[in-house]
Amino acid sequence: MSARAGRKGTYGIDAPYVPFGYFAGALIALVFGIVFLVTDGIGGALAPLIIAVVLVVLGGTYLHATRRGKFEIWSDALNDLALGGDERVLDLGCGRGAVLLAAARRLGPGGKAVGVDLWRGVDQSGNAAEVTERNAAAEGVADRVELHTADMTDLPFPDASFDVVVSSLAIHNIKAEAGRAQAIREAVRVLKPGGRLAIADITATSAYRRTLLEESMSGVTVRDQGWRGWWSGPWMPTKLVTATKPS
Ligand SMILES: C[S@@+](CC[C@H](N)C(=O)[O-])C[C@H]1O[C@@H](n2cnc3c(N)ncnc32)[C@H](O)[C@@H]1O
Repeated sequence: MSARAGRKGTYGIDAPYVPFGYFAGALIALVFGIVFLVTDGIGGALAPLIIAVVLVVLGGTYLHATRRGKFEIWSDALNDLALGGDERVLDLGCGRGAVLLAAARRLGPGGKAVGVDLWRGVDQSGNAAEVTERNAAAEGVADRVELHTADMTDLPFPDASFDVVVSSLAIHNIKAEAGRAQAIREAVRVLKPGGRLAIADITATSAYRRTLLEESMSGVTVRDQGWRGWWSGPWMPTKLVTATKPS
């Protein structure tokens, strides 16, 4: 299934202040460039004009990651999970449902895609449970989607209640390292034996790997997702962490 196939919801922009900062900076640099061009000629204008171009490229790369690259990465990751259709899938920090609803589209009537979130607008533009509900209806999967307002460090689910746990660009939003480790332990706790985990994130993925090994998860891998997952440039790549809970 391609990343764009059948996508009918609207999924916002992750951490919208970042591209806003790039484009606002580019505009300011451009204004300085024009002023220096008029007063000093091209010699004085060159530096601000180059800065404006660089900031536009960084903002454009970021927008590509959030509007397209993320969807491509998760399309491949969900294809690799080869869902049978009747699984219970949990998405930690589902936001407007980019991954939650892509998973739901791969489920049949016997499956369920469950999203938990705190709906923080600073982490995703227009973030709200009602928006995710609207997206679920637009994608035609509302009957197999369930949303919970909850903190991923303290999940309101019993042990061993999900076949698959996914999380996209959300765990790094927990500021404390201990909190991020707790979120990983919660993911492992709610997985059934034999259940599978896939986490995409931009920072702290080595720490996630360490916690998963401490939790005796098997087949733990961390894979760089290439340029499509660059949040501005190669210094901020998306990495996909996968693991399986031993049976
Ligand atoms: C960058 S957004 C990504 C949303 C979605 N996973 C996606 O890829 O489009 C991060 C999400 O994590 C949520 N979040 C942050 N801290 C959380 C926490 N402690 N528990 C649950 N959700 C959290 C935010 O509200 C936000 O929706």
